[in-house]
Amino acid sequence: MSTPLLEVRNVGKRFGGVIALREVSTVVNAGEVTCVLGDNGAGKSTLIKILAGAHCHDEGEYLVEGEPVRLSSPREALDRGIATVFQDLAVVPLMSVWRNFFLGSEPRVGWGPFSMIDRKKACETTRSALADMGIDLRDVEQPVGTLSGGERQCVAIARAVHFGAKVLILDEPTAALGVKQAGVVLKYVAQARDRGLGVVLITHNPHHAYPVGDRFLLLKRGRSLGCQEKADITLAELTRQMAGGAELEALEHELRQERVVPEPAGALEKKVNNSRLSKERAIS
Ligand SMILES: Nc1ncnc2c1ncn2[C@@H]1O[C@H](COP(=O)(O)OP(=O)(O)OP(=O)(O)O)[C@@H](O)[C@H]1O
Ligand SMILES: [Mg+2]
Repeated sequence: MSTPLLEVRNVGKRFGGVIALREVSTVVNAGEVTCVLGDNGAGKSTLIKILAGAHCHDEGEYLVEGEPVRLSSPREALDRGIATVFQDLAVVPLMSVWRNFFLGSEPRVGWGPFSMIDRKKACETTRSALADMGIDLRDVEQPVGTLSGGERQCVAIARAVHFGAKVLILDEPTAALGVKQAGVVLKYVAQARDRGLGVVLITHNPHHAYPVGDRFLLLKRGRSLGCQEKADITLAELTRQMAGGAELEALEHELRQERVVPEPAGALEKKVNNSRLSKERAIS
């Protein structure tokens, strides 16, 4: 077995008195998708920020291609080929697709202070990189804001692939999307994987994770509920664990007991009329 692209061993992170993450271990291999699942506040973003260099871990080990590291900035992570696509920060809506694709790394013509952006080349490169990923955009000059949520995510994914990322981290790329759009994004996640990238996919939704995932790391209140290979877990079991299993059953029971008996028809109308009458009386 070759060395994983990324590996965390019992990593932990505290923010003052709050333990955001504790004893979490997983691996990210080339050509595989590692899914990170968990409810709100489970520690998903904290883990991703450690992987992406935005936070440094307090406990455990973080290894990049077998080498223990302490990343101090996202730039350092990027230099090691770890690209992160954040849900909202992926693109600048008013800028064209090609400007968003390059964002500061545009090809230039000319020399020194007289150089300028090579617009033609930039547009062509963007179009062909998107086409390579199977994304067919009519016009790369159109503002990114005019694209659908799914297409925007795809532009961000294509950008990371084009600039030679080895690891692609996607923070809830399907959260705000409808069923069809989410499907499109998952297709590009699979394409990035098939190109040999290691992908980390964060999601709330086991139905999005299961079809593309190779392993599933479940987090709950900062702790790991285990990291399972796809062969060892079914979609039904993953969904049950995500939903909290026994906790959900207890909640369902509680809700059934607390059900309020609806008032008979006409009762509400009578109440409104009565209150109106008493108000009128008070005024007169
Ligand atoms: N910078 C911070 N300072 C203090 N506490 C933090 C900080 N970042 C995260 N936390 C705490 O760590 C815990 C885990 O937060 P995290 O953002 O990682 O959860 P999450 O799984 O990404 O949740 P969500 O699905 O809502 O995005 C939370 O209790 C949160 O309040
Ligand atoms: Mg989060």
